[in-house]
Amino acid sequence: MGVLETKNLSYVYGAGTPFRMDAITDINIKIEKGERVGIIGHTGSGKSTLVQHFNGLLKPESGKVLLDGRDIWENPKQIRKIRFKVGLVFQYPEHQLFDETVYKDIAFGPKNMGLSEAEIRERVGEAVEIVGLSKKLLEKSPFDLSGGEKRRAAIAGVIAMKPSVLVLDEPTAGLDPKGRDSILYNLKRYQEQAGTTMLLVSHSMEDVAKFAKRVLVMNKGRVAMFDTVPKIFQCADELSGMGLNIPQITQVFIGLKKRGVPVKANVYTLEQAAKELASLKGGGTPGA
Ligand SMILES: Nc1ncnc2c1ncn2[C@@H]1O[C@H](COP(=O)(O)OP(=O)(O)OP(=O)(O)O)[C@@H](O)[C@H]1O
Ligand SMILES: [Mg+2]
Repeated sequence: MGVLETKNLSYVYGAGTPFRMDAITDINIKIEKGERVGIIGHTGSGKSTLVQHFNGLLKPESGKVLLDGRDIWENPKQIRKIRFKVGLVFQYPEHQLFDETVYKDIAFGPKNMGLSEAEIRERVGEAVEIVGLSKKLLEKSPFDLSGGEKRRAAIAGVIAMKPSVLVLDEPTAGLDPKGRDSILYNLKRYQEQAGTTMLLVSHSMEDVAKFAKRVLVMNKGRVAMFDTVPKIFQCADELSGMGLNIPQITQVFIGLKKRGVPVKANVYTLEQAAKELASLKGGGTPGA
């Protein structure tokens, strides 16, 4: 049994109006407990619409979302509880910040869960450490933070609820590469320690390759592929037909292999590339 599953899930914006938009159609996916999954797709392919169903922010037009095997809408009055179990960091997480201080903002979720002050304090402390936010910022207004700090604060607010599933919708968009890498690294380390199921929506194939084991590719509101990173990157032509590109470094290695250089084709980070080239130089058996 997967932790999160959808069955024939569809959603339409503006149903019954001339602006009707079939945003996602007939989605059937299953995510296992403790998995790290990347979600990728061209702009408008339905990624945000899909993930907003996971914590009940959007209600399916048709079909179901199952959490631990149970329909999350089984009892609509209980939907709030689902939001504690499935944490969603929005595409523009800075919009999630609204309180007087960063501390209060991060504490908002745990407070809603009815936890004690002591427990809340502890959770906020842990969460800021995980996201790499300085404790000095806790008494500041969230509006005085930099873009990267705002992201970290928004992510901390969701982590502080200790959700069993954590969904991040483009958490690093608009940040510089250093900030992006640092957030992804922290999230990955946290995931490995806590065993949380994590879903990362991203435009960046590089980020997804670094972060996820499996990748869900969305195209025009439908699931185009759902497979391991190496399998997905083998479909470079199909992906480019959907307006997606595999990482540049992967393209280079596929090109080398085509030209008869004995390297692996499934290289997607600079670190892997350096290793592969070093073993080639050393006369090992790369690509074996
Ligand atoms: N609130 C809304 N009202 C009407 N249409 C919407 C709304 N939100 C999204 N859409 C439309 O639904 C489709 C799917 O949008 P969605 O935001 O889920 O895509 P996305 O893959 O997250 O895109 P992006 O990569 O730009 O974030 C798009 O055609 C979009 O224009
Ligand atoms: Mg989106």
